[in-house]
Amino acid sequence: MLPSHLNGHSALGRGRPRLSAAAASGDFAAAGIGAAAPLEEHDRIYFQSYSHLGIHEAMIKDRVRTDAYHTAIMRHQKFVEGKVVLDVGCGTGILSVFCARAGAKRVYAIEASEIAVQAREIVKANNLTDQVVVIHGRVEDVDLEEKVDVIISEWMGYMLLYESMLPSVLFARDKWLKPGGLILPSHATLFMAPITNPERYESSVDFWRDVYGINMSALVPLAKKFTSEEPSIETIGGENVISWPAVFKHIDCYNFTAEEFKSITTKYKVSSMMLAPIHGFGFWFEVEFNGPAESSHNFPSNLDPLEIIQKKRRRSSEDAVLSTAPEDEPTHWQQTILYFPDPIEVKQDQIIEGSVTVSQSEENPRFLNIHLECTTGGQTLVKDCAMR
Ligand SMILES: C[S@@+](CC[C@H](N)C(=O)[O-])C[C@H]1O[C@@H](n2cnc3c(N)ncnc32)[C@H](O)[C@@H]1O
Repeated sequence: MLPSHLNGHSALGRGRPRLSAAAASGDFAAAGIGAAAPLEEHDRIYFQSYSHLGIHEAMIKDRVRTDAYHTAIMRHQKFVEGKVVLDVGCGTGILSVFCARAGAKRVYAIEASEIAVQAREIVKANNLTDQVVVIHGRVEDVDLEEKVDVIISEWMGYMLLYESMLPSVLFARDKWLKPGGLILPSHATLFMAPITNPERYESSVDFWRDVYGINMSALVPLAKKFTSEEPSIETIGGENVISWPAVFKHIDCYNFTAEEFKSITTKYKVSSMMLAPIHGFGFWFEVEFNGPAESSHNFPSNLDPLEIIQKKRRRSSEDAVLSTAPEDEPTHWQQTILYFPDPIEVKQDQIIEGSVTVSQSEENPRFLNIHLECTTGGQTLVKDCAMR
C-alpha cells in the first residue's frame, strides 16, 4: 500500500531504523543483521511512514487483500507446514502469524519500520515466539543462518509498482530462497484501459464555468492542469472502462529482476466498445499465488479479450487471486487514473493505441515517472506525469 503521506510526512529527526538492536525474538540466535548499507533519506521517510498504525489498519481492514493472503497460505499449506518462511516487510506481523498457524517451523518476520517493535509483542502475545522471529531491519541487511523454503510479502503499491518494494523481495529471493522454493504472490499483472468519467470531469473542470452564477472559467485551465498533472487514486466501476484492458506488464516473481523494474515500456492497441469521451487511462492489477511449478494465468501483452474472459472463468474459487479491477470488489488500492487535460471523443470500434513507459524516478526510486502516448482518430496526445 502507498503511505499516502509518503512525500509530505515530516521527518521526526530520528535516524535509520536501529539495526544493531535487532535481536531475534524468542530463543533464536539464528537471525541477525549483517553489515548494513546506509539508509538513504527517501528510505528513512518511507519506513517512517510505515511506523504509523493507520496505514496498517487500512491494509488489514481491506478484507479482499487480507483474505487473499490467508487463502493463499492455506492453499499452499503443504509447502508451509514444517518449513522455513521469510516474510519480507512483516508490518504488524499478520502474515507471519498466518504462516505460523499454518504450521511453519520458523518464520523470519523482517520489518524495517518501528512497527517491528509491536510485531514482536504481537508474536509474544500469541505464544508464537518459538516459531516467529521478528527482526527489526531491512531485508537487504539481515543475516539469516539458513535459507528459506517460502518467501511471502505484500509489496504492491498503487498502480502495482509505486513504492518500489518489489526489488527488496527479489533481493531476498536471490539471497535466501532455496532452489524450488515458493514465492507468495508468484505473479503480478498490471492492466490498463481508456476510461470515460464525465461526472468526475464535470465536477473538477466544468464546475468552474458557473459557480453560484459567477463565471469562473478563468480557473478552467488551472483545473485541467490540476486534474491531469498527477495520477489520481480513485474507485471507478466497470462501466467507466471503454475497451478490453491491455496488459501493461506481467511479472513472474520467480524470474523478474530489479534491473527490469527500473523502466518498463509497453505498446498497447485497444478498440473502443462505445461512442464516448475518453477522459484518461485507468490502471489496476491482479496478483496470483502459484507454486513454482504451476503456470500462471500469464496474460500476454497483446491480450485477446476472449482470453481474459476465459481465464477469469477458468478460475475456481480455489484459485488464490487478489484483484483490484474495477469490476471486482473494491480494495484500498482502488484504481489509478491518468486524466487527460481535455477529453477525446471516440466512436465505437475506434482504435486507440500508443505506448506507456513507467520508470523509477532518479530523484527518489520509490516514486514513478510515467510517459503515455495515445493516438486515436488522427489525434495524438503525449502526457508525462510523476507519481510522488
Ligand atoms: C505493504 S506493508 C505490508 C505489511 C504486512 N506484511 C501486512 O500484510 O499487513 C509493507 C511493509 O514492508 C516494510 N518494508 C518495505 N521494504 C522493506 C525492506 N526492504 N525491508 C524490511 N521491511 C520493508 C514496510 O515498512 C511495511 O511495513
